[in-house]
Amino acid sequence: MHVIDMALLLLILLTMFLQEHITSIEACNKLTPDFYSESCPQLEHIVQTVVKAAVLKETRMAASLMRLEFHDCFVSGCDGSLLLDDTANFIGEKTAKANIGSLRGYEVIDEIKAQLEIECPHTVSCADILALVARDSIVEVGGPTWTVEYGRRDSTTANLTLANLDLPSALISGPQLIQNFASKGFNLQQLVALSGGHTIGFARCAPIAPSLYGPLTDENSMNTAYHTFLEKACPNGSAPSLIPLDDGTPGKFDSSYYTKLLEGNGALHSDRIMIDESGRTVLEYVSLFAKDQECFFNDFAKAMVLMGRLQPLTGSEGQIRTNCHFVNPPSKLKTIPKTFNHKLPLRTPAADLHP
Ligand code: HEM
Repeated sequence: MHVIDMALLLLILLTMFLQEHITSIEACNKLTPDFYSESCPQLEHIVQTVVKAAVLKETRMAASLMRLEFHDCFVSGCDGSLLLDDTANFIGEKTAKANIGSLRGYEVIDEIKAQLEIECPHTVSCADILALVARDSIVEVGGPTWTVEYGRRDSTTANLTLANLDLPSALISGPQLIQNFASKGFNLQQLVALSGGHTIGFARCAPIAPSLYGPLTDENSMNTAYHTFLEKACPNGSAPSLIPLDDGTPGKFDSSYYTKLLEGNGALHSDRIMIDESGRTVLEYVSLFAKDQECFFNDFAKAMVLMGRLQPLTGSEGQIRTNCHFVNPPSKLKTIPKTFNHKLPLRTPAADLHP
């Protein structure tokens, strides 16, 4: 057996093992769709209104916003850690290789959070906002809908090292890509479905140039005309052009990404390896989703729900940040002197009750 086939077989076995494991994780899923039904019934309306306006202003914003959920959940779980700014205690994830100069849409999350803090103060976590924003963004550009689960709480720290390790690079190899997704509990079908997120949005020349000018060689999976198009658009790695990830319909969530990939028009090396060096099963799923959009939508929606369940903080873990950029200031209750008379009525600012 060829070494690559052997490595793929091992990865498939690992994936199957992790799937078993994930089933037991699902069994104790603590997130629920009605978590805010009493504490913030306006949540879905507020988020939908802000997302709709943002996407109307700029279609690409749908792509940028839904990508935030992926980059939050793949790094120590869906805990809003992605949104934290650097502090004296830690360097945040915004400067990770996959995020810096690339992630967009933070201001839309800020607008939503500001409105929610007026309507339902100290109630909705930044992590839950990201999950709902992802769903609504996709719906805005014609994609599938699903029921969003809530109850995540926000982290009090971020992990730049882990962000650099766990967020896949466009230069990744087939086996590494499979391993990366398997380590989060996703099988091959889910990997291919989630990669369909690239049916919307754009890439800069930076992640594309290594396939054009080396060190990568992608000749088998890219057609000549598309190669020439990319060379013209990205005459060097730092050209300011934006390349559609779906060469057919970049502003529409549909299955065109898979069709274009099969035609040799995949923009990123990490997309093209699915038809080149990730094995027959992966290629079969690409072909299936290219032919059957309903099947893609179904699998994508289910995989997004699973992504949203990655290691959430729940119950008394973490906190509900009042500003997604920062951890809440220490509670004033801690400074109450020991001689404090507990019999006096206590009017505590609501913020103090929510660490
Ligand atoms: C399979 C591994 C993946 C790799 C290696 C990868 C890598 C990338 C890269 C390099 C870009 C272009 C960034 C830039 O030039 O600034 C990009 C954009 C994007 N990615 Fe991924 N990605 C992956 C999976 C996903 C998944 C699972 C989703 C969502 C479900 C997703 C959603 C997006 C979107 C929507 C954009 C466009 C964002 C925009 O236009 O602002 N990606 N990705």
